[in-house]
Amino acid sequence: MIDISLKQRGRARIDFEVGVRLAARRRQQACEGILSDRGVTAETLPDDMDARHALIDATLRDVTPWTTHAWLSDWSAREHARVCEEAFDEVADIAAPALDALELGASTLTDDGAARPRYWSEVWFHRTRGGWDASPYNGYVHGELVHRRYVSRIYPGDIYAQRRRVLEGLGDFIARDIVEFGTSSGHYTVALSERFPDARIIGIDPSRRMLELARRVGNRLGRAWDLHVGVGENSGLPDESVDLVTSYAIHHELPPRIITRWFAEAWRLLRPGGMLLMADVPRYADLDRLAAWRFDWAAKWGGEPFWRSSAQMDLGEGARAAGFVQVTATGVPPTGNPYCVVGRKHG
Ligand SMILES: C[S@@+](CC[C@H](N)C(=O)[O-])C[C@H]1O[C@@H](n2cnc3c(N)ncnc32)[C@H](O)[C@@H]1O
Repeated sequence: MIDISLKQRGRARIDFEVGVRLAARRRQQACEGILSDRGVTAETLPDDMDARHALIDATLRDVTPWTTHAWLSDWSAREHARVCEEAFDEVADIAAPALDALELGASTLTDDGAARPRYWSEVWFHRTRGGWDASPYNGYVHGELVHRRYVSRIYPGDIYAQRRRVLEGLGDFIARDIVEFGTSSGHYTVALSERFPDARIIGIDPSRRMLELARRVGNRLGRAWDLHVGVGENSGLPDESVDLVTSYAIHHELPPRIITRWFAEAWRLLRPGGMLLMADVPRYADLDRLAAWRFDWAAKWGGEPFWRSSAQMDLGEGARAAGFVQVTATGVPPTGNPYCVVGRKHG
């Protein structure tokens, strides 16, 4: 964690955004009670997700908390990143030099300037403006301010402990060389470093700005992470060069055809006996129709264009189709979130 003090105004505005989002959630919970009173339940909802949205919207059309829930959620989805950007701008004269000082250290970042994929560069995920590389310090704005001061307070549980918990799925497996797809600002990389303190960790992500923060985080921790601007589906790394290919919370940012390529690329990169571990959001097929709709509603309004298609994929089958054996694909207890697919390349 790189903590930079914000001005009181910036802190208060972020706190307000969190409050708006939590207020929206309380209204949603109240509305689910009304749905049930009106005979709409997990059992009676239609199979088709668009029809499910339409039925719920029609059932709650005259319910004020539903209207305010939608309005507050929309507001928060549009505003939270802007508020974080402005909170950063208020302290940029102190924050920027402090962040620049962390560029020097054992972690490295390479960028060969290759074109970014269109599904990434042409989509402004999470309804932010300008995408992942929007501004020079977007790694800090998104990785620290949005994530730590907003996302971590609106999601239940400790979202950082969840990153450590998924690694328990590897048992006592030892990895010397690890590649992480979708490193972003390095939250999961920190967990990987704790679990495998002696391993070489290679991180790949198309976002230079997010990797710049990961490099600073690595340097601050005294780690030598090897970070590359690139994509998981075409990593450019040699065949059979690593023991573990892993990712956290990325599938929902990818079109299904790219997820299929990720499994194939993971297989290519792994040495025989190596492990695959990829964690992401729960599968809709494992949820009841109301629970799946809750995720889908948040994704639809939260700027997640690939969430639904990825959450409907059978990731275990994807791993098996790429050649992995001993595949398990399950939600992590007690909530089932995140969902982990683990497999081995036969030795
Ligand atoms: C939700 S964040 C990742 C979260 C991160 N692993 C963590 O634990 O906080 C999504 C990241 O996926 C990256 N990404 C999107 N498409 C990618 C691809 N094809 N290959 C690798 N990373 C990708 C984005 O640039 C972004 O940094």
